[in-house]
Amino acid sequence: MERTLCIIKPDAVRNQNVGNIVAMIQKAGFRILGLKMIRISPEQAGAFYEVHKERPFYGELVNFMSSGAIVPIALEKDNAVADWRALIGATDPAEAADGTVRKLYATSKGENAVHGSDSAENGRIEVGFFFSEAELAANR
Ligand code: RTP
Ligand code: MG
Repeated sequence: MERTLCIIKPDAVRNQNVGNIVAMIQKAGFRILGLKMIRISPEQAGAFYEVHKERPFYGELVNFMSSGAIVPIALEKDNAVADWRALIGATDPAEAADGTVRKLYATSKGENAVHGSDSAENGRIEVGFFFSEAELAANR
């Protein structure tokens, strides 16, 4: 079974959209293996998005992701990575399809409500960034 990591980003937490997004996840048939609310440091945010280190938006992204509470959610489903990215919509909410999380709840291209892993391998790695296997075992 494939895993992917969702993060409800600080804009969506601030805008009271945690429940709406969790409802969309569950209606779409994902199993929630783990869910927590935490705040991460700029160093942790920088490590999580290390792959974007050289991109012009990296500093802004690190500041944003450490600006308030986030809700990492470990998800499992057949085809979890692609199915979650389809439900999320395009990075820029202006380009996101109707009915997607970002179309409904994102603020801007940078502050875009949710994260989704981009491959099955990264799904495993990113879930491990926030959850131990012992934590993930609770809902199996
Ligand atoms: P994510 O990794 O968060 O699921 O988003 P994504 O795959 O759709 O987009 P990605 O290219 O991986 O970019 C990671 C996050 O960086 C911020 N970003 N800002 N201002 C900008 O031009 C810009 N471009 C990207 C967004 O928060 C994006 O989700
Ligand atoms: Mg990405």
